[in-house]
Amino acid sequence: MSQAFDPGEPNARYPFPAYPNGWARVGLTDELAVGQVSPIRYFGRELVLFRTESGHARVLDAHCRHLGAHLGVGGTVAGESLRCPFHAWCWDGDGNCTDIPYAKRIPASAKIGAWPVCERNGFIFIYYDPTRKRGEAPSDEVPEVPECSDPEWSPFSRLRWKIRARSYDMGENAVDDVHFRYLHGAASMPSTKRSDVRGSRSNLSKMKLDTPQGKVDGSIESTNVPGMGLVYVRGICDTLIVITGTPIDGNYVDQMFSYTQKVGQEATRAKLGKALLRDLEKQMNEDIVMFEHKRYFTNPLLVPEDGPIADYRRRARAQYHGDFSAMDSHEDGASEATPTSASDPGERTQPFGERDFDELASFLRATFKARRVERTDDAGSGEVELRLFGRADALKHSLVFARACLDRCELADLRGYLAKPLVKKGIAAGGEQPYHVPSDLVGR
Ligand code: FES
Ligand SMILES: [Fe+2]
Repeated sequence: MSQAFDPGEPNARYPFPAYPNGWARVGLTDELAVGQVSPIRYFGRELVLFRTESGHARVLDAHCRHLGAHLGVGGTVAGESLRCPFHAWCWDGDGNCTDIPYAKRIPASAKIGAWPVCERNGFIFIYYDPTRKRGEAPSDEVPEVPECSDPEWSPFSRLRWKIRARSYDMGENAVDDVHFRYLHGAASMPSTKRSDVRGSRSNLSKMKLDTPQGKVDGSIESTNVPGMGLVYVRGICDTLIVITGTPIDGNYVDQMFSYTQKVGQEATRAKLGKALLRDLEKQMNEDIVMFEHKRYFTNPLLVPEDGPIADYRRRARAQYHGDFSAMDSHEDGASEATPTSASDPGERTQPFGERDFDELASFLRATFKARRVERTDDAGSGEVELRLFGRADALKHSLVFARACLDRCELADLRGYLAKPLVKKGIAAGGEQPYHVPSDLVGR
């Protein structure tokens, strides 16, 4: 059985899957004591994080397979398992039911989603890969970072933001050389050298840093390794920033900077080190304004001096499962984000609602280059009509669905059907004929 989680739907603001594969920080070592249980929400899912009596951090899907209680709200650690507060079923870190205190036997199917966990460098990470089979080992490892446990380096100070953006944006920002000059006011444009180190891309930027004592030569070296971005700042005061960002859902990311500096640097340097951290915080606050209001263009207009943005995008795509095809026709799409969080595939109990309509409309806009999609419900005929308008508000096409069929089908199936070459060709050809989607093709 693969973990049944949502791969993260594209939406109008970001026409690509929400969640990159790999390790992502969901907790901090010093915030999870033995026996502690905390509800967390990442990857559009309710999860529960707990530490067993032997000290292992574990993460499970939050809802008890019995009658759905939230294990993070009132659940208690019992040995290596987590006991549900409702009827005391116990679940171990692999998602197996280990006890039903009042039952003769445990049903063979008593399992819940369990996430691979790695605790390292003071962080607790889980591994996201929607195609991973239960029990299958992740394909990479979070590396040990020596500075994180070296007494020569200070304990971490942290900054944390909830940002209306995606991890994708954060990565792109790091390779966007020019914005350092114009958005962040760096004294000069960084000159960046890039190299591949042990399969990770590393960037070395040299720049003049403004200090109260005039301009100083500085360098920033950044590398991405599984679970973390590592940024070494040199020139003023040796500093390591560990950047971890985890998608909360398709629209928000939980971003954290954890700083450590070499201890015992002389007073002036230590003061400059503090100023540097303040400056990095200022930079993040400037970036956030961009992140939260920008739109993702599939084909941005770049000049050679923009640096390796296109290269970053090619590499970043490899981290995602799912459909990027909507990206290719996105520029004519609409502007507003649609919430995409937390719908479990296969659990459709709601009739076709607003959220579904918004998602379907953004798909139709992107796929058929429609400027606007309008919806009319006809209670008499039991039909829903979606009208696609092109430029100058000319009606491009009209799709008619049986309401009962919409209520029954999965959005993904419906989209899959509409994206079939022949169907797509028919719709793209336009015309004002209503197009009836046969209910047997999309219903199930
Ligand atoms: S809901 Fe968890 S034991 Fe009943
Ligand atoms: Fe930035």
